[in-house]
Amino acid sequence: MNTWVFLHKYRIKYWKQFWLAAAFVTIETTCDLLQPTIVSKIIDIGVADRRPDYILSQGALMVLITALGALAASIRNVIASKVSQNFGSELRGDLYEKIQMLSFTNIDNLNRTSLVTRLTNDVNQVQLLVNSLMRISLKAPLLCIGSLIMAINLNPHLAVILIFIVPIILLLIVITIKVGFPRFAQVQTALDQVNAVMREYLSGIRVVKAFKQFEYEQEKFAAANQELQGKSVGAIRLMSVFSPSIALTVNLGIVMVLWLGGLGVNTGQIQVGHIIAFINYMSQILVSLMIVFLIFNNFVRAKASVIRIGEVFKQHNDAKWIINHFAFQPVNKGRIDFENVSFSYAGLGGPTVLRDINLTCLPGQTVGIIGATGAGKTSLVNLIPRFYEVTAGFVKVDGHDITEINPGQLRDKIALVPQQAVLFTGTIMDNIRWGKENATAQEVAAAAKLAAAHDFIISFPEGYNTKLGQGGVNLSGGQKQRLAIARALIRKPAILILDDCTSAIDIVTEEKIKQALNEYASQLTCLVVAQRISTVLDADKIAVMEGGTITACGTHTELLQTSNVYCEIVQSQRGRR
Ligand code: UTP
Ligand code: MG
Repeated sequence: MNTWVFLHKYRIKYWKQFWLAAAFVTIETTCDLLQPTIVSKIIDIGVADRRPDYILSQGALMVLITALGALAASIRNVIASKVSQNFGSELRGDLYEKIQMLSFTNIDNLNRTSLVTRLTNDVNQVQLLVNSLMRISLKAPLLCIGSLIMAINLNPHLAVILIFIVPIILLLIVITIKVGFPRFAQVQTALDQVNAVMREYLSGIRVVKAFKQFEYEQEKFAAANQELQGKSVGAIRLMSVFSPSIALTVNLGIVMVLWLGGLGVNTGQIQVGHIIAFINYMSQILVSLMIVFLIFNNFVRAKASVIRIGEVFKQHNDAKWIINHFAFQPVNKGRIDFENVSFSYAGLGGPTVLRDINLTCLPGQTVGIIGATGAGKTSLVNLIPRFYEVTAGFVKVDGHDITEINPGQLRDKIALVPQQAVLFTGTIMDNIRWGKENATAQEVAAAAKLAAAHDFIISFPEGYNTKLGQGGVNLSGGQKQRLAIARALIRKPAILILDDCTSAIDIVTEEKIKQALNEYASQLTCLVVAQRISTVLDADKIAVMEGGTITACGTHTELLQTSNVYCEIVQSQRGRR
C-alpha cells in the first residue's frame, strides 16, 4: 500500500472547501495585483495632469479594492483554519483508532514511544501544511504569475528585463530545492533522533540514576544534539546564500528598470507611474518567491511526518480477524486446549519460541506452569487472549478455535495479570474498576481483599481514592502486583491467568492470596505461571517448560517421581518456602 493513500479520504472530504478557499485567494490576489496599476494611473494621469477629481476617484477605488481583498483574506483564513483543524483532529482520531486495532506484533514493529510522536508532532506538521497550503501556498504562485502578467501588460519594453531576471531566479530555486531538499530532510531525521534519545532517557530516568549512567546518557544526547546542530547549520547556510542571491537578482532587476525607465522617461517613451508600478510588481514577485521557499521548508517537514503516519496506516493487521465471528456463548466454562501449538514472534520462519505444545486445562482446575526464565511461559499464556497468532496448531477455548471467536468476547472471558504490573494515572479505585467498569465500592473492596491489597490501601490517608502517578510510581512493586491481581479478580472471569504476578510479594502475603484464591478459583479455569515452586505446589496439574516445550506434566507428587528438572528446581528452592 502506498504511504500517501491514507490522505485520499480527507482529499475527497475537503476538496470543495479547498477550492472555495482557492476562489477567495484568487479574489484577494487580484485585489493585490490591481493596486500598483491604480497607483501608476494616479501618478501618470492624476498628478501629471493635475486632476484632483481623478486622484480622489481612483483613491476611493483603491480603498474599495483593499477592503474587498481584506474581506476575501478573512474568509479564506476562516475556511483554512476550520478545514485544517478538522482535518488534524480527524487524522489524529483515525490514527488512534488504527493503533487500537493493531496486533501486538504490529506494535512491536513500530516501537511504542514513536507512536506518541506520530500521534502528536507528526499530525501537527501535516495539519500545519494543510493550513499553509490553503493560505499562502495558493497565494504565492498566483501572486508571482499575476505580477509577471501585469508587469508585461503594463509596459512590454520594461518587461524585457524580466526575460533576464526570471530564468536566473528559477535556476536559483531549482538548485536550492535540489540541494536543500535532502538537507532539510536530514535536519528532520536529526531532530527525531534527539527526541528519541530524550524520550528513552526520561522513561528510564530511575534506572539511569541507579546505574549512574548519567554521563553515558549525556554523551548520547550530546552526540545527537551535535548532529542536529551540524545538519541545521548546513541547511541554514544554504538558506543564507539563497535568500540574498534572490534578493540581489531582483534588486539588480529593479536597478535595470530604473535605468532603462529613466532613459525612457527622458525620451518621453515611459511614464514615471509605470516605473513605480513595475518596481512594485517586481517586489511582489520577490515576496512570493520567498514564500515559496518557506512553504518548501514546511513541505519537507510534513513529508517526513506523512511518511511516518503512513507507516502506521500501512501496517497490515496480521491477525486473521473474521468479521462474521462465531457467536460465542458466554457460558462460564473456560476449558483451554493447546493442540500441537508452535509459535514464533517473527511469524513463520522466525526463531521458534514454542514448539509442539499440548496442554489441557479443565474448568475448575488450576494449572501451574513452571520453568526457567526464557522458557516461554509468558509467550504461552499470551496466546490465550490472542495477543499473538500461533504459527502452527490450535488454541481452543471451550472447544472452539480462538481464531473463530470474536476477540472482544474472547477477552471478556479472560482476566490476565501480566508479569509486569501496569497501572494507570488515576485513583486506586479507578484502577481496580478497569476490570469491571460498573463495579460497586463493595465489589472493589472484596476484590482488593482477595488480592491481600485492602489493608495497605486503607492504610493510605485517602484509601481507595489515593491518586496514582503515571504507571503507579508511588507504589511498591508488590503493592502494584496486588492491585493488578485485584483488577483481574473483580472481573469474575471464566479464565484467570496469573503470569508470575506474585514475584515481588513476600511468601506470607502470597500464601494469604493463595488461600483466598482457593475458593475463588474453584469456579474458573486458572493458569498460574511461576518461578517459585511454592506458588504452584497445590495446583491440580503442573506443566514444566524447558526451551519452549513442555517436558513434563503432572501433580507435584507425580513430578517428583517423573521429572528430573522438576526435582532440580525443588532442590534448588528447598528451604526457601
Ligand atoms: P518468555 O517471555 O515467554 O519467557 O520468552 P518466560 O518463560 O516468560 O521467562 P520469564 O520467566 O518471564 O523470564 C520466551 C522467549 O521468547 C523471546 C525471548 O527471547 C525468550 O527467549 N521473546 C519474548 C521474544 O522474542 N519477543 C518477545 O516480545 C518476548
Ligand atoms: Mg515471563
